[in-house]
Amino acid sequence: MGFHNATVYQVYPKSFADADGDGVGDLRGIIERVPYIASLGVDYVWLNPFYPSPGRDNGYDISDYCAVDPAMGTMEDFDELSAALAAHGISPMLDMVFNHVSTSHEWFQRALAGEDRYREYFYIRRAKADGSLTTNWVSKFGGPAWARFLSEGGDADEYYLHLFDPTQADLNWHNPQVRAEAARVVNFWRAHGVKAFRFDVINLIGKTEPLADAVPGRDDRYVYTDGPAVHDFLRELNEASFGQDPDSVTVGEMSSTSIPACVDYTAPHRRELTMVFNFHHLKVDYERGAKWTRMEPDIAQLKRILDEWQRGLQAGGGWNALFWNNHDQPRAINRFGDADTYRIETATMLATLIHLNRGTPFIYMGEEIGMTDPEYASIDDYVDVEARNAYAALVAGGMDEDAAFDIVRAKARDNARTPMQWDDGPNAGFSTATPWLRPTNQATINVACEEAEGRILPYYRALVALRKRLPIISEGGYEGYAMDNDDVVAYVRTPPEGDAGAARLLVVCSMRPHPVEVAIAAEYRRGRVLIGNNAERPTSFEETPLPATLTLAPYEAIALLAGDAQA
Ligand code: GLC
Repeated sequence: MGFHNATVYQVYPKSFADADGDGVGDLRGIIERVPYIASLGVDYVWLNPFYPSPGRDNGYDISDYCAVDPAMGTMEDFDELSAALAAHGISPMLDMVFNHVSTSHEWFQRALAGEDRYREYFYIRRAKADGSLTTNWVSKFGGPAWARFLSEGGDADEYYLHLFDPTQADLNWHNPQVRAEAARVVNFWRAHGVKAFRFDVINLIGKTEPLADAVPGRDDRYVYTDGPAVHDFLRELNEASFGQDPDSVTVGEMSSTSIPACVDYTAPHRRELTMVFNFHHLKVDYERGAKWTRMEPDIAQLKRILDEWQRGLQAGGGWNALFWNNHDQPRAINRFGDADTYRIETATMLATLIHLNRGTPFIYMGEEIGMTDPEYASIDDYVDVEARNAYAALVAGGMDEDAAFDIVRAKARDNARTPMQWDDGPNAGFSTATPWLRPTNQATINVACEEAEGRILPYYRALVALRKRLPIISEGGYEGYAMDNDDVVAYVRTPPEGDAGAARLLVVCSMRPHPVEVAIAAEYRRGRVLIGNNAERPTSFEETPLPATLTLAPYEAIALLAGDAQA
């Protein structure tokens, strides 16, 4: 299938390239960098929201779904960007944020003005008789998930639901008019030639009515996540919009989801979505599941989760989006490796693990040059509402400021949002003006130096090309390998149906900063190296076989094709 051998590159427009010199990225900046994007060999470019927005949550608070924010450019710029990408066979993938809308959006404003039609677009509820809120849900950005609905001459006891910031009002998808609006938005962009979409926190749209309290003391997400209605709503949206295009590709961002739900979201016969992001593998450094904590990643757990998702989605005929990084996650090099001593090894090892696996890999801008978290020294360097709220909450809860800052530094979403580092200049080649978020280590980590002598960028290009070329990667099966060895994450890709003669592919990735041992099954000992990040290794072991127990270098990755078969 088309998307099985595809790779997606994610561009955070605000931070990719600034063409008009105001310190904020824009669409024309991306146009200038299309040749670079094309040089990676990718098929899709996911663009985070660039629509008009008050920017309270960096564009995820949309005030007009069918326009371009003037700070980002114009609709003509978008069409030009699409055409420039199309010239290289690349399609834009647009971010559709349909769980909620900015309170500045016309729909919410008209609801506030008392228009019944628009009140019904939202969850507006009176406080209970005892004055308490409709439900005890908490906002994902802190505080209660209900805010006062201060309508003109209206009922002062009304509240509206916001699972995120108070300026992001949840849309009531049980209302057929809301569902029709969503389809209209997708079709608007389809008319601009877009055929790929990413749906933001889409598994939150099926809240079960009546909205119910979470059991006190228990995390409330189970009440409103993955409700059965999500599937119905997705099928309806599919039929009314993107599903009309046989080439459409969609990815749903699934917050706190499950394997069975994601099989259902992505099994082709269900006609819901193409693939899903889940985040369980990125919570292995959350102490007791809580984000704003500090903990070393639990590699045994990481390994188990990756394996369960691979096996689960394969068994159910579903499809995973594969990723380590995005605009919401601190850089994976800092989390899972050593950003100082072994930056190159960590970057290439993590890339190997993702790109050779079953699913569609996503590269988040800067990942391909080994960008790391910025080295900020003060909470004032952070811009994100989530980070600032979390810091304030930790300090208000009695934690001393240094400890709170240490947590924010490790977990803030701003870690990923610093400008793309194009060169070693003061503004990293991103802008002629001071960037909206400060880069700190562009002197050593930047595109120009990777192009000249780097090892990470060529490695990514090679991985993207391998997926295009080899059906064992794009279409092959998955089996876990060395499951009792917690120093490595390893798997075997098995020949796809119809290609039974292809060599099996063993992928072994060390997760440790010191040498580790791994058993190599006999069939791979005379194997050929498909790709690896240890320059000391020969490219083939046909002459001198590998030992039964192989010692891997720190963060080494090696992919071995079995025996003497040709891939
Ligand atoms: C998703 C986005 C994130 C945003 C949130 C609310 O998780 O990726 O950036 O804050 O949804 O829209």
